[in-house]
Amino acid sequence: MSQIANNNSVQFGKVAVLMGGLSAERDISLLTGKAVLTALLEKGIDAHAIDAGEDVIEQIMKGHYDRVFIALHGRGGEDGQIQGALDTLGLPYTGSKVLGSALSMDKLRCKQLWQSLGLATPAWKMLASNDDLHSVDELVLPVMIKPAHEGSSIGMSKVNNTDDLEAAWNDAIKYDDSVLAEEFISGDEYTVAILAGDALPVIKLETDNDFYDFDAKYQSENTRYLCPCGLSEQDEKQLQALAVKAFNAAGASGWGRVDLMRDGQGQSWLIEVNTVPGMTSHSLVPMAAKAAGMSFADLVSNILETSIEAVAV
Ligand SMILES: Nc1ncnc2c1ncn2[C@@H]1O[C@H](COP(=O)(O)OP(=O)(O)O)[C@@H](O)[C@H]1O
Ligand SMILES: [Mg+2]
Repeated sequence: MSQIANNNSVQFGKVAVLMGGLSAERDISLLTGKAVLTALLEKGIDAHAIDAGEDVIEQIMKGHYDRVFIALHGRGGEDGQIQGALDTLGLPYTGSKVLGSALSMDKLRCKQLWQSLGLATPAWKMLASNDDLHSVDELVLPVMIKPAHEGSSIGMSKVNNTDDLEAAWNDAIKYDDSVLAEEFISGDEYTVAILAGDALPVIKLETDNDFYDFDAKYQSENTRYLCPCGLSEQDEKQLQALAVKAFNAAGASGWGRVDLMRDGQGQSWLIEVNTVPGMTSHSLVPMAAKAAGMSFADLVSNILETSIEAVAV
């Protein structure tokens, strides 16, 4: 055990785990960060927590770290900002680089990219101001109204009739300067975790709520996670291949998660890429890793290894 511990501290050096941050997902990030920190320490890695406030750069510089595990969700931490700062400091870090982080965080541009590559994503309209609400007439109801750069289902709602559009838009615009209306895909929801270029086993999500909203994600006892996901081996492979394609198309790398819907006709629709998905013991990526025979601590150290690969590129 002590041999393993020594090897790990030599290989990885002093590691900063960035957590918290200033985004709307701060609380979830603190949970992710603490779980990651515990796992790294368990692996004998010289890991230290940094609560990423205004002085994050100063804290990183003062600590003389060798690499960084980014456990920040949402804006500032998952969108290329901290990645760019770390590049400037010459510090290797986990996960996607600047471009992949920024693109994946931008639901609109990601969809434009997928569409241009012939990868199916639900039809949508941008609603820059409430004058644009009439453009939803060109979509088939119901639609999802969502902030273009948020996570954790924050500011999102399903709208079944046009009378409810304005209220939904008003809610979403509180969180973002751009809002998306996207055709609602009725069917099954899946998520595919990606680690070092490969897809892990697919998870199916089931909720009694209208969709996988904040409550279903973090509070409800009635959310069901199926892994194995119930698809045939061939269909699962197809979904995994699509997820890897979508992930790579968005310029994402290292690790992450792709959310998809599958309609009644068996057609898959890309919803979004998460470049720093939740990593608590109850999160989806650890669940998929477990199904692939990987413990939480092994997963965390495999993710940390993506920071080494990143340097070699
Ligand atoms: N077009 C859609 N059709 C059906 N459900 C959707 C659609 N878009 C989002 N959802 C539901 O809303 C959830 C959150 O949407 P998502 O775009 O993944 O945002 P977030 O970044 O908040 O996770 C999804 O997990 C899914 O349950
Ligand atoms: Mg999502």
